[in-house]
Amino acid sequence: MMNIDSYTHVRGESVYLDDIPLVNGTLFASVFDSPVAHGKIKSLDIDAAMKMPGVVRIFTAADIPGENQIGGIIADEELLASTHVHFCGMPVALVVATSDEAAKAAVKKIKIEIDPLPVITDPREAKEKNELIIPPRTFQLGDTTAAWTQCDYIIEGSTATNGQEHLYIETQGAYAVPQENSAIRIYSSTQGPTQVQRTTARVLNIPMNFIEVDTTRLGGGFGGKEDQASAWGAMCALAAWHLKKPVKYSLHRMEDMRMTGKRHPYSSDFKIGLNKDYKIVAYEVTFFQNAGAAADLSPAVMERTLFHCTNSYFIPNVKATAYSCKTNLPPNTAFRGFGGPQGMFVIEAAIAEAAAALNVSPILIQQKNLLKTGDEFPYGQIAQSEANECWDKAVNLYDLQKLQQEVDAYNNNNKLSKKGLALMPICFGISFTKTLMNQARALVHVYTDGSVGVSTAGVEMGQGLNTKILQVAASIFSINPERIKVNTTNTYRVANTSPTAASASSDLNGKATEIACVAILQRLKEVAAEEFTADISSIEVKEDCVFVNGKQTDWSWNKLVQAAFVKRVSLSEHAHYAPPGIWFDTTKEKGHPFTYHVYGTAITTVTIDCLRGIYEVDSVKIVHDFGKSMNPIIDIGQCEGALVQGIGWMTMEEMLYDKEGKLKSNALSTYKVPDIYSVPKEITIHFLETEKENLAIFRSKAVGEPPLMYGIGAYFALFNAIKAFNPAANIPYDAPMTPEKVLMSLYPQTLKENK
Ligand code: MTE
Ligand code: HPA
Ligand code: MOS
Repeated sequence: MMNIDSYTHVRGESVYLDDIPLVNGTLFASVFDSPVAHGKIKSLDIDAAMKMPGVVRIFTAADIPGENQIGGIIADEELLASTHVHFCGMPVALVVATSDEAAKAAVKKIKIEIDPLPVITDPREAKEKNELIIPPRTFQLGDTTAAWTQCDYIIEGSTATNGQEHLYIETQGAYAVPQENSAIRIYSSTQGPTQVQRTTARVLNIPMNFIEVDTTRLGGGFGGKEDQASAWGAMCALAAWHLKKPVKYSLHRMEDMRMTGKRHPYSSDFKIGLNKDYKIVAYEVTFFQNAGAAADLSPAVMERTLFHCTNSYFIPNVKATAYSCKTNLPPNTAFRGFGGPQGMFVIEAAIAEAAAALNVSPILIQQKNLLKTGDEFPYGQIAQSEANECWDKAVNLYDLQKLQQEVDAYNNNNKLSKKGLALMPICFGISFTKTLMNQARALVHVYTDGSVGVSTAGVEMGQGLNTKILQVAASIFSINPERIKVNTTNTYRVANTSPTAASASSDLNGKATEIACVAILQRLKEVAAEEFTADISSIEVKEDCVFVNGKQTDWSWNKLVQAAFVKRVSLSEHAHYAPPGIWFDTTKEKGHPFTYHVYGTAITTVTIDCLRGIYEVDSVKIVHDFGKSMNPIIDIGQCEGALVQGIGWMTMEEMLYDKEGKLKSNALSTYKVPDIYSVPKEITIHFLETEKENLAIFRSKAVGEPPLMYGIGAYFALFNAIKAFNPAANIPYDAPMTPEKVLMSLYPQTLKENK
């Protein structure tokens, strides 16, 4: 089935926040944000701004009737800075005017005096100064201290991965419209409508049932709107509540880049020990997460880094420690992979470093240590592994030996152009790591004309969730998909939603939809059983018709629905789903946090230009564990998109803050994102269809995040290409591998001499 949004997307008719028709009298908001990264506010002068044409009012922390607090996990983040600023871009005041232009012009007239305080941008420095968001956590398996004595080789090193700008095409924004009795409706570009509702209730000190959050779809979220959409919703609501007028704020791209958090940069140390058979015996790793100036989702992201610190490998002795380090950068947040990729990069670097030291191919070490069914993860869960299946399939299907020979032959024949090849296995746990978040609800109405409306807790953000939800309803009812409409995500229809995140939303919301549809269908069958004086077990609804004992009757779906209505049978159902069997004990750091894991293997080849340092990704050949895909078109799209996003993170997206905490890469002219030219020339995706039981919706495994981590393969393919040119190259494990870094690694000596 095609993505149901294709038609309106292509015609430009899909509705995003900026397409919502404005209510007469709508005002426009714009934020004045801190120009410095850390300091005490001495004075704020809004007089000149107030005199600007069109300005209605300027709000500050003093205007907040409830709590000036938006921190979800930890209450450590103000909506508007009251006494101190903690990062460049921290909102201080909200200008409301009769037009967007007027609001932005007035923002420029606000003056602030700040007594500067020391600025920290480096996570290791923050750790040294004991600036931590939460106490460190350690995951342990076996006993590394004892295990070092059994190792024949021990290799140590350090790595760094930079952050990543989400660059959703639709920037952050919200539109708050006052309703009667001081209720407020907020249209929000958010992955978490309930999060916006809860935060606004807290800020305004009004109950949640007076706040309706409605989301049609997002022009991308990628994690950036899991938690960080709430501020704009709360700000618009604050202004709308005071002024009794609708207020809209749709961020300019540069405001968005400056004021919002990104993927967490990490700095890490590793120590890896192997025996003579290249089995990894022990692994110790310490992660320094750059959390930014407030907790946001950092503790949860840090936790997932620990969960994925051994990627797709079994290591019997592991000790992984993570520090969430508080710096004066915008609070970093969820980003596709949610800390997992950062953890996986380090083990891949450790393997690459070990391979270089032992003069063997990293592929050998990777392959020898792949996770098997029955192996234990450092957090206690027992693996149901597809790692070897994916790996072997990739090696055979794509003929790794031949690919490697081609690369070697090319490198022998070319002096100034080199190829590199790398394998990247992945293993990603599906479920929110916080068990309680794994719940969802669906509300299904069958109308008397036989049409069906479905509302869930899930948000469509381009990942095809609504299409999958529609497929679930169409499949359970066995009716023409055209009869079904998936509605906006709205906190008045479905309450207490988890954000659409963790790749789990089709599973959670799909299963809730399934339960609701099954319940309605059961009641409809009872009606039919009575009509045809047959046993309910003999009734079937198939392709819009009622069947009794396998024989088609003259009852259509419509007739059945009408008969049920006449008999006063409920045609609606609200269902709840919470996946069974998951738990995690943080006091022991053990449990069974994931309903299942997703596996895969990618083979990446690249070509570098050894004069210029530029490069191309020739091909990425993937075997991916989809379970039994319920929508291969969407799932391929998710794989391709995630892969390219991962390659962008690993190779070209270079976030740059200066020492004063100012974002230098603050626009699309200074921040390079992958475009069509940086997409691999060839992407092949093979579906590993597994028949094994899994807890995914219709056994179609979650796909949103896992393929991003194939992008890590591009880093190591570049690494290998550089080594082919200069075997002595001392390449730091410091992503992204920009063309500048490639060039520096190719000719370290020469460049130093030229300096
Ligand atoms: N795909 C598109 N087109 N746009 C997005 O914003 N977000 C990703 C992924 N795929 C995203 C996307 C992220 S971070 C997650 S967690 C999942 O989609 C969430 O949706 P799912 O649970 O339905 O997979
Ligand atoms: N993944 C994604 N988002 C989340 C998670 C998670 O595990 N926990 C809280 N938000
Ligand atoms: Mo995705 S980072 O879980 O929104």
